[in-house]
Amino acid sequence: MAPYSTLLLSVLLFLSLSPTLLFADSTYSGDEDTVHLHFYIHFIENQTEVVVAKSNIQVPGSFYNFGSIVVVDNPLTEEINITSKPVGKVQGFFSVMDSLTVVWSANIVFTTGEYNGSSLAILGPDDITKPVREVSIVGGSGCFRRAQGHILLKTVSVDFDTGDAEAEVDVYVDTWRSK
Ligand SMILES: *[C@@H]1O[C@H](CO)[C@@H](O)[C@H](O)[C@H]1NC(C)=O
Ligand SMILES: *[C@@H]1O[C@H](CO)[C@@H](O)[C@H](O)[C@H]1NC(C)=O
Ligand SMILES: *[C@@H]1O[C@H](CO)[C@@H](O)[C@H](O)[C@H]1NC(C)=O
Repeated sequence: MAPYSTLLLSVLLFLSLSPTLLFADSTYSGDEDTVHLHFYIHFIENQTEVVVAKSNIQVPGSFYNFGSIVVVDNPLTEEINITSKPVGKVQGFFSVMDSLTVVWSANIVFTTGEYNGSSLAILGPDDITKPVREVSIVGGSGCFRRAQGHILLKTVSVDFDTGDAEAEVDVYVDTWRSK
C-alpha cells in the first residue's frame, strides 16, 4: 500500500469508492486513457492456425465440428492486404461450440510500433453469424498492463472451401498509464 495516512485514506474512501482512488500502486498515475487501435486478422488454415482436436459432431453451416480446438498464431496487419505493414499476432486458441459460436482464449501480441512487446488478453464468445462481435479484453502486459476493454470483430471475407478468413478488428482499451 502507498503510505496514505489513515485520515487521508478515510477521506478518500468517504469521497468515492472508485477504483481510481483505491488503486494504490505508486507506479500508476490513476489516469485512465482509452486507446483505439484498428487492424486486420488473417486466418490461414493449416498455416497460421491448425485444428488440434475435434469430435465427429458436425455443426450445420460451420466449417468446424463441435469441440474443435483451433490453435492460432495468426498475423495482424494494418491494412486488409496481408502484405501491408505487420502489427503483430493473435496467439492462443478458440474452441468451437455446438453452434456458430467460437470461444476465444488468446492474446493480441504487438511486434511493431509504439506497442511492440506489449499484449492484450482476450476471452469470450464470438457468434460468427453477427456482423459485429464484441470480445472482452481481460488484461494485458507492457503498455497494456492491467488493461480492460473490448474488441469489435467484423468478418471481411471467408473462403468456405479452405476455412481461410479475414476480419477487421477495432480495439478499445483502457490503460493505466505509468507516470
Ligand atoms: C497487396 O499488396 C501487394 C504489394 O503492394 C500488391 O502487389 C497486391 O496487388 C495487393 N493485393 C491486393 C488484393 O490488393
Ligand atoms: C520489437 O521489439 C523487439 C524486442 O525488443 C525488437 O527485437 C524488434 O526489432 C522490434 N521490432 C520493431 C519493428 O521495432
Ligand atoms: C488442413 O489439414 C487437415 C488435416 O490434415 C485437412 O483435413 C484439411 O483438408 C486441411 N485444410 C486445408 C485448407 O488445407
